[in-house]
Amino acid sequence: MGKVQQVDCECKEKKTEFSLVRVKGTWKSKPGKKINKDPVDCVSPAKIFESVTEHGTSWTVVSPITFTYKVTETHGLLDPGNSTLLVGHITDSQQLEDIKKSNKPIRRFIVIDQEVCDIYGSKLTEYLEANNVMYKILALPTTEENKSMETALKILDEVNNFGLDRRTEPIIAIGGGVCLDIVGLAASLYRRRTPYIRVPTTLLSYIDASVGAKTGVNFANCKNKLGAYIPPVAALLDLSFIQSVPRRHISNGLAEMLKMALMKHKGLFELLEEHGCMLLDTKFQADNTVYGHSSQKAASQATRIAITTMLEELAPNLWEDDLNRLVDFGHLISPALEMKVLPSLLHGEAVNIDMSYMVYVSHESGLLTEEEKKRIISCMVGLELPVWHEEFTMELIQKSLQDRLKHSGGLVRMPLPVGLGQAEIFNSTSYDVLYRAHVKWCEELSVSSDSTCDA
Ligand SMILES: NC(=O)c1ccc[n+]([C@@H]2O[C@H](COP(=O)([O-])OP(=O)(O)OC[C@H]3O[C@@H](n4cnc5c(N)ncnc54)[C@H](O)[C@@H]3O)[C@@H](O)[C@H]2O)c1
Ligand SMILES: [Zn+2]
Repeated sequence: MGKVQQVDCECKEKKTEFSLVRVKGTWKSKPGKKINKDPVDCVSPAKIFESVTEHGTSWTVVSPITFTYKVTETHGLLDPGNSTLLVGHITDSQQLEDIKKSNKPIRRFIVIDQEVCDIYGSKLTEYLEANNVMYKILALPTTEENKSMETALKILDEVNNFGLDRRTEPIIAIGGGVCLDIVGLAASLYRRRTPYIRVPTTLLSYIDASVGAKTGVNFANCKNKLGAYIPPVAALLDLSFIQSVPRRHISNGLAEMLKMALMKHKGLFELLEEHGCMLLDTKFQADNTVYGHSSQKAASQATRIAITTMLEELAPNLWEDDLNRLVDFGHLISPALEMKVLPSLLHGEAVNIDMSYMVYVSHESGLLTEEEKKRIISCMVGLELPVWHEEFTMELIQKSLQDRLKHSGGLVRMPLPVGLGQAEIFNSTSYDVLYRAHVKWCEELSVSSDSTCDA
């Protein structure tokens, strides 16, 4: 065993590192990094570091926590023969076997967006009845205005009345990003952490809100001010829900997809450039008489790339400790714009206006050619997204970037495209560049954007 104790002479600190080992059912701290495994059942990845000084003793606990969650794309999630909704989150094969053999009915508490319930509620009930599930369906108007602690508490009240086995009965959320965020927060509060499942029914929540770990509600007039980083046990994705989503909300989701394309995937950009209109017309559905098989191929490619690129950025940074995030593209100025003009812009629309301006910043900085800039803007217009807004002023830009400096460790950390499907983070974009980009952006896009918005 190596040297385990260090005495720092100047401040007279004695430091000891302990490993934690389980011997006959009880945990014991053992000094040192290397443990002789023989008499030990299990060595924990956790450590305790003890420090003794003349002022007292302190223990620093390092306890690594692993989150495992599944993102599953499936067809016919509400077809009675598809068991994914009930057992798709289970990773342990023995547990799955036990459930299949057991005669005990499965119990599930389900929160569903009211509008989604109006469309899919009877199908959901039939599914649960056919699978002999004991259930409670709570339909709520999960709108941005109701994205509050009050709604979360209402859910918790009903969950408490229903009674849940925290280990085996995950709460299921079915709806758009608002519903998934509120239920996720409620679940993470109930008995300190009850597992939950996300079933997204909008395009935005399908490729964005479902994939990560964030939950939240609005508070003190700020978006998602209360929340937690607790991922669902599973996100169960079925594109068929998207068929009833209004066209404007499909564009809204396409904005977040375009963000990933511009930051990291040229192929996805080209796909959106070429097939954006078809994706809007077909609403990502397979059985389309006009476009045939090509619509299904484009839809599944686009969602798959959007999800995998998003997972690549999120998985190593689940709690957003690393502040250099490409997924922040389009989210530097847009939150202030979105709140300022609420409810006239949807989230993805505000994000797109921000991205459109940033494309001009990139061009002005010599990072994008004129042709690349034009291609990106015309792709945005093709996706029926706004590319300009009169409230997106230099004042709003400066104020938002100053706020960002405060919350991002003193650096602006501005993701900018440096070619199609490539990006880097910049910290020193000058006021001059921001200003020139804004002038050009207004000159070139204010007129065309007016006509797009009126259409
Ligand atoms: N947690 C995250 O990582 C994350 C990421 C992105 C966005 N969000 C959050 O997501 C929210 C936006 O999500 P959204 O765009 O899905 O909005 P939303 O949840 O408000 O849904 C949009 C509208 O579509 C309706 N709807 C939902 N599914 C439908 C369907 N299949 N058919 C017909 N109508 C349907 C809803 O009733 C609602 O009126 C924001 O609050 C945002 O903060 C969270
Ligand atoms: Zn977003």
